[in-house]
Amino acid sequence: MQIAQRLSGMRESFIREMTRLAIAHNAINLSQGFPDFDPPREVIDAAHRALDASMNQYSITWGLPALRQAIAAKMKRRYNLDFDPDQHITVTCGVTEAMRAALMALVNPGDEVIIVEPFHEGYLPAVVFAGGTPRFVPLEPPDYALDPGRLRKVFNSRTRAVLVNTPHNPTGRVFTREELDGVAQLCREFDAVAVTDEIYEHIIYDDRPHIPLATLPGMAARTVTIGGLGKTFAATGWRLGYACALQPLSGALRTVHDFTTICAPSPLQAAAAAALELPDQYYRQLRRDYTARREKIMRILDEAGFTAQPPEGAYYVMADFSAWNFDGDDFAFARWLPANLGVAAVPGSCFYGTPGMGKNTVRFAFAKKMATLEAAGERLKRR
Ligand SMILES: Cc1ncc(COP(=O)(O)O)c(C=O)c1O
Repeated sequence: MQIAQRLSGMRESFIREMTRLAIAHNAINLSQGFPDFDPPREVIDAAHRALDASMNQYSITWGLPALRQAIAAKMKRRYNLDFDPDQHITVTCGVTEAMRAALMALVNPGDEVIIVEPFHEGYLPAVVFAGGTPRFVPLEPPDYALDPGRLRKVFNSRTRAVLVNTPHNPTGRVFTREELDGVAQLCREFDAVAVTDEIYEHIIYDDRPHIPLATLPGMAARTVTIGGLGKTFAATGWRLGYACALQPLSGALRTVHDFTTICAPSPLQAAAAAALELPDQYYRQLRRDYTARREKIMRILDEAGFTAQPPEGAYYVMADFSAWNFDGDDFAFARWLPANLGVAAVPGSCFYGTPGMGKNTVRFAFAKKMATLEAAGERLKRR
């Protein structure tokens, strides 16, 4: 049986493999990026109400009007971005689907798509499935800065899009205005589109600002801004994301979305609209809680002999395990860890497209209850 060529060289997700390994070894799962706590009570109640109110059929393909209106209001209030909910906002099954739809809508065979590495592992399949050719630009440790000179080297007349994720998984970088200006300038110069992944927009430390690329001069018309509900409201299994784009980008990605998933789950969209009504206090508390978790994981990793920079945003740490003198690469280490110490992490190199990068690192996710993090700390100390 022949398998399509577009899948050659691709395999299942390493992150989800690590989750299965964690389950097999009864390990504490700090690999996959999902919380081990529930969404806010009000949001769960809203989902129950929607199920009881017969919201069990397809919603409008673009998303429940109340949710699209809530997203438009949020984009205006927080970032002063104008999106018409009837034209420019599409609710998708997670950021993963929004990214896929954006690239399917944009990319022709032979087009190049720039991916800043390390990157979320869904990006490469999204580019390849759309028929694009990935080009990688590395962020180098320890500061993982986005270097405009390196970016310029890969932009060319075939560049169709650049994928920008801020706050960034896995490094925790929150890109500065200067770094984003560098991207915007190149997009304008080479007539390229930016597809942004802002799923961690609310998980930021030390009062850093989150700057959507679409707010920079000339970028509103050439950016697809993608966001998600899963991380902000601890509901990754609800599969809710959205894409905001002006025309003609919005219409094109809506067509892809329509014929891929028809719509996101209707009752959960109703609950998401309620989630977006939560007061600012919710977001302040979210930041406080994640700040406490970040402190805890940094102490744990330090005590266990890892070298790592505290993240500026998102809920991951890239930890260098060189000081462990482990005889093997990051994959061997990530397989050894749950089997021997009962903690699961993700091999660093699976976030890179360039071979050889990330080999001394593993990624820990810390969207966990304090008690979970403490237990992981106790286990890592036993090395
Ligand atoms: C940067 C980034 N983008 C996208 C996703 C996936 O988002 P969703 O679950 O909404 O598809 C994740 C999940 O960890 C992520 O970290």
